[in-house]
Amino acid sequence: MELSEGLKTRTSVRAFLRKPVPRELIADILAEAQQAPSSSNQQPWHFHVITGKPLALLTEQILAAHRQNRKPYDPSKGKTIPPLYVERTKKLFRELRPFLQKLGEEHRAFIETGSLRLYDAPVAVLLTLHTSFPRNRLMDIGMAAQNLMLAAHARGLGTCAIGLVLYYEDIIRAALELAPDCALALMIALGYPDSSSPVNDFRSSREPLADCVSWLGFEEQGY
Ligand SMILES: Cc1cc2nc3c(=O)[nH]c(=O)nc-3n(C[C@H](O)[C@H](O)[C@H](O)COP(=O)(O)O)c2cc1C
Repeated sequence: MELSEGLKTRTSVRAFLRKPVPRELIADILAEAQQAPSSSNQQPWHFHVITGKPLALLTEQILAAHRQNRKPYDPSKGKTIPPLYVERTKKLFRELRPFLQKLGEEHRAFIETGSLRLYDAPVAVLLTLHTSFPRNRLMDIGMAAQNLMLAAHARGLGTCAIGLVLYYEDIIRAALELAPDCALALMIALGYPDSSSPVNDFRSSREPLADCVSWLGFEEQGY
């Protein structure tokens, strides 16, 4: 797959086949994720790859905690973000709704509980870094995460970045026996896409490029 085609066709996958993903294939994907640039080549990422019983147990525990004390989806994490971005979240849900109606699911509930069970993906990859790194080093983790998602896509696998599970950080820490100096960055659901599910037909939109670009110095150069 051409890189450019991969960039244009990758989408978040929210329904997976129960088919297992071979360990060697995951290792190939992670080797490409590792090719991401990082500040001073420190490669601050660590990939925790979870499948089978440990994954089933983890999602069971998260869902049980959610049922007891529901932490609703809040993309702005309690902070006041400019209305423009709140509107974009609303737009995502509006656009997603018809696809979920085909499944007979209420869209918020689908995203909330779906995210917490990692959309039943056969594999989850948790990306962590050492707590001593400053916040801007999450950039390095983000680059590795994007590489991972594109490497998976190039092999016919699907992914969905899942931030929502991190609300249940304590449960993840205990289940994976993470050291106290290990900071959680992102979970990624990984597996073969279920192409029969209407939710995987959904394509999120993008704002016009002009709304997020400022061009400087081009006019004086004549273009
Ligand atoms: C940091 C991050 C966290 C995300 N968390 C979730 C999540 O918890 N649940 C979910 O369904 N999608 C989640 N997503 C996926 C986004 O909703 C998705 O990337 C966005 O709507 C654009 O759609 P696309 O990935 O199909 O292009 C997350 C994406 C990122 C980058």
